[in-house]
Amino acid sequence: MIVSPSVLSADFGNLQRDCEMLGRSKADWVHVDVMDGVFVPNISFGMPVIKALKKYSTKPLDVHLMIVDPDRYVDTFASLGASIINVHYEAATHLDRVISHIHGHNIKAAVTLNPSTPVELLEDVLAEVDMVLLMSVNPGFGGQKFIGNTLRKIERLVKMRERLGSSALIEIDGGINAETARQCASAGADVLVAGSYVFGAEDPIAVIESLSKL
Ligand code: DX5
Ligand code: ZN
Repeated sequence: MIVSPSVLSADFGNLQRDCEMLGRSKADWVHVDVMDGVFVPNISFGMPVIKALKKYSTKPLDVHLMIVDPDRYVDTFASLGASIINVHYEAATHLDRVISHIHGHNIKAAVTLNPSTPVELLEDVLAEVDMVLLMSVNPGFGGQKFIGNTLRKIERLVKMRERLGSSALIEIDGGINAETARQCASAGADVLVAGSYVFGAEDPIAVIESLSKL
């Protein structure tokens, strides 16, 4: 399992310490949640914080844009050092254009779906993307409860990926803990994002290792 801990639940007074902890852990990526207070009802952090994350992180940044009109900011996040840019299907009017724009920077492009958006809407774009991020909570906050229907969406997406000959990874974000992580793994997920489960743990390094073994 690829593990992408979300720094939304890190201690922002000790961001360097938390980034260095991730560096020592089995985390594969660092998940960076950008919220604009418009697409989602919360504001997280912006460019200066991402600069600090990049400075202290040794792992690729998996940037999740919860912002309207993400195309406007692709160049900015590329220059900040993102390795993956996730844009919401619901926020991108011209999704195909945004994906090409991201790829133009030699960055991996991922499309993200809210819990109520069916995976079938990706039929005509799956071949173009490197990853699909399925939200298993309504985006905006850490620490919410996993929405069980996500497991059926993973299974449908696995079949669709086979049928279309796509190799896009399937990433799950929201409400991941020991139990939901196991369920996502057996449904066919390739990547797990975990925020509160990792940073709220006594031993985050051990939690990350347990996820990576799934
Ligand atoms: C929610 C964010 C998530 C969040 C997950 O909108 O996209 O990445 O950090 O937090 P947990 O793992 O606590 O549900
Ligand atoms: Zn996220």
